[in-house]
Amino acid sequence: MKVYAVLGDPVEHSLSPVMHNAAFREMGLQASYHAFRVGINRLRDAIRGADAMGFGGLNLTIPLKEGAMAVVEPDETAKAIGAVNTVSFRGGIRGHNTDGIGASLALRHYGVDVRGAKVLLIGAGGAARAIAYQLSREGARIVVTNRTPERGLALARDLGLEFRPFVEIEELVRGSDILINATSVGMRDGDPRLFDGSMLRAEQVVFDIIYSRETELLRDARRARAKAIDGVMMLVYQGAAALRIWTGLDAPVDVMEGAVRAALRG
Ligand code: ATR
Repeated sequence: MKVYAVLGDPVEHSLSPVMHNAAFREMGLQASYHAFRVGINRLRDAIRGADAMGFGGLNLTIPLKEGAMAVVEPDETAKAIGAVNTVSFRGGIRGHNTDGIGASLALRHYGVDVRGAKVLLIGAGGAARAIAYQLSREGARIVVTNRTPERGLALARDLGLEFRPFVEIEELVRGSDILINATSVGMRDGDPRLFDGSMLRAEQVVFDIIYSRETELLRDARRARAKAIDGVMMLVYQGAAALRIWTGLDAPVDVMEGAVRAALRG
């Protein structure tokens, strides 16, 4: 029996255990996946302990992804992004980042081709960095905007992208083919809108990486008949990519999606 886990704080509401255990069952693997609350000050102990106990692998979530860089041996992708969401234990303690590929595969899942597309990326946290890295490799023309300019500028500089101030958001929205919300705005009921959603158009794609609820942004997008994509498939595909790193096997994404959507329905 192999043990896998997600570490984070808070981590109680993580859907990763439900999603990965459904995948293991479907794949016929003798494995189980758990959530452990671990703060940044115990991260090194926790990762080394998991290695010592023969865990199959780990996922990391808030607030551990950036701090893990100093604990693991990051691969090229994790290094470029500056954050780790997946740890493997074969041939050392290796750090990976599957958030960017998760976002890319989610867009592809819904038939969206990013090559040459004008992408407005809102946000400059860990998720935004991973998405910017992956989509720019795939030939998207990305403009970054962020409430705090310093963070947005740092992201844009590190990845060789254009940054535009947040006050220009409405003009930026109008000029984009694909709009990605990689901020936490919309996670809570009653969050303010990032911009006036009535300006969205039917030809646009709106991808909101939030998966815990139907956001106002996605509702605005649907109202405008734009293509509205929630964060569930990004969660699923980042998990599928982690599973492949750990086991070398293809993950049953449909089953994983079903488990996540069932858990969200409660
Ligand atoms: P993660 O690692 O999950 O991406 P994060 O590092 O906390 O999370 O980043 C959250 C993002 O949401 C940031 O881009 C943040 O903007 P700031 O850099 O200005 O903090 C953005 N964000 C959070 N609340 C926001 C708000 N009310 N309006 C605009 N952006 C907001």
